Amino acid sequence: MDAAEPRFVVVAKLSDLPDGGFIRAMLDHHALVLARSGGTVYAFQRTCPHEKADLAQGRIEAGRLICPRHLASFDLIDGQVSRGWKLDALRLYPVRIEGDDIAVDGEAVRQNPPGGDRKVWDLTAR
Ligand code: FES
Repeated sequence: MDAAEPRFVVVAKLSDLPDGGFIRAMLDHHALVLARSGGTVYAFQRTCPHEKADLAQGRIEAGRLICPRHLASFDLIDGQVSRGWKLDALRLYPVRIEGDDIAVDGEAVRQNPPGGDRKVWDLTAR
């Protein structure tokens, strides 16, 4: 494989991700979330850049991911946070759909890793 060629890794089945749905996925021990909205599948870091809420418990509205804990929102094109927040951008990763497979760019994940999931705030556990 050409070193410059992105390496896409199958992480889930498209048939397991209904429109409007979120699922958790792992790629090389990195915790990701896959979300499907309006026919597009997004891959991004599991934990919120603010205080590590589990973004698999968020929602998508008008092209923005809304964190379930304090409601910061992130642009699903460039990851930029909503006004008024001083946070790192959401780490988003290229996705390729191959039949029923959802593949994520493993090189992008390795070069800009999403961080661990040890401190995830699980809002369903309260
Ligand atoms: S934990 Fe996501 S906005 Fe605070």
